[in-house]
Amino acid sequence: MDISYDPALIEGKVILITGGASGFGAVFAARWASSGAIVIIGDISLSGEEVAARIRQETGNENVHFIHLDVTSWTSQVNFFREAVRLSPHGGIDTVVANAGINDAEESRLFENPNVDYLNDPSPPAPSFKTLDINITGVMYTVHLALFFLPKNPGSNRCSSNPKSNSESKRDRHILLLGSVASLHPLMTQAPYTVSKHGVLGLFRCLRISAPVSAGARVNIICPYYTDTPFMQVPPRVLLAGVPLGKIDDVVNAASYLVADMSCMGRSLVTGPKLSLDTSGRGMRPEYKSNRNTQDEDSITCGGDLPNIDGDSSREQEGPVWECYLHDMEPADIFTQRMLTVVNATVKARGWAGWAYDMIDAFTWPARQWWNSSRART
Ligand SMILES: NC(=O)c1ccc[n+]([C@@H]2O[C@H](COP(=O)([O-])OP(=O)(O)OC[C@H]3O[C@@H](n4cnc5c(N)ncnc54)[C@H](O)[C@@H]3O)[C@@H](O)[C@H]2O)c1
Repeated sequence: MDISYDPALIEGKVILITGGASGFGAVFAARWASSGAIVIIGDISLSGEEVAARIRQETGNENVHFIHLDVTSWTSQVNFFREAVRLSPHGGIDTVVANAGINDAEESRLFENPNVDYLNDPSPPAPSFKTLDINITGVMYTVHLALFFLPKNPGSNRCSSNPKSNSESKRDRHILLLGSVASLHPLMTQAPYTVSKHGVLGLFRCLRISAPVSAGARVNIICPYYTDTPFMQVPPRVLLAGVPLGKIDDVVNAASYLVADMSCMGRSLVTGPKLSLDTSGRGMRPEYKSNRNTQDEDSITCGGDLPNIDGDSSREQEGPVWECYLHDMEPADIFTQRMLTVVNATVKARGWAGWAYDMIDAFTWPARQWWNSSRART
């Protein structure tokens, strides 16, 4: 899979990034600002102001802004989107990256090890679910607002997988979600985070089919493996000692490819260290190469005719970016296509007479309801 992209396609796009003051968000902002995008960082941390200032200085792009945002607050999110539209040179938003997320280790520990006497405590406190508040409610707020604002992007067309129709306008309608490998696999001892990222994947799987129809918006997701950002606190670093980590650059390359190429719709990219995949029939089992030095520093492509490892034909070497969740795309598409075919055929067969019958039926429905319920009363 080739994820190379043309940076010129990012120029002039208005891109909102939640949680853009640190980690992936800050590097997305810097990369896209250097390509000439208008970047609007929203973050609960006021350090976002310094991050925006540094990016402006380093890239010479004055269109990098910071707006204070708490994704768990509806008012704060509405303000973020309204301010972004005000700052946008063309009055619209092209891409929304729902990136803000946390994994609170203490919250996970306490969830599985309740330390309150729920039997005798006169007013036992509810457990803290900050992880779900930020990673689920926050993302749902962001996406809900994106579905309102993206279709209003002046000059934008409904999304299309046809590169030809996309070349007519640079204006976009794009939602990029940040999942995790925890969207695909359980992270033992981290139930709230796993639940939240499975939720984000569920959101993606729904919207990638419906958002192109309802809002003309394309929806993609990136599911990174553990990657070296401030997100990785001491416990996971200790746990993963000796195991290769993902590289920020691969995550940013994958995200940039999805932002730049407007024909990317419903794509789910996983990023991580280079893997050997067991394709012997036991499923796609990642097997990490022995140490961090085995990672190829340059390559961001994967697939193709890469050599087998140790002469074992069931193990193929893979790159740091690969696609997941394509398997349910096909049945979902086929289902939608068949449903539309059946609906269209029925509409055709019933014609105007069928339409008139349904209209009369719809308008007389309240009267029939009233008649039935008054008969039931007597
Ligand atoms: N780094 C990894 O290993 C990894 C792996 C998989 C997925 N992810 C996901 O990538 C996303 C970004 O993670 P990162 O590694 O850049 O982490 P990070 O901690 O470096 O950045 C997260 C940002 O979100 C902000 N944030 C937290 N709460 C917020 C709130 N209520 N409102 C607004 N902003 C808030 C933080 O201030 C921070 O700037 C997250 O959704 C995370 O779950 C990270």
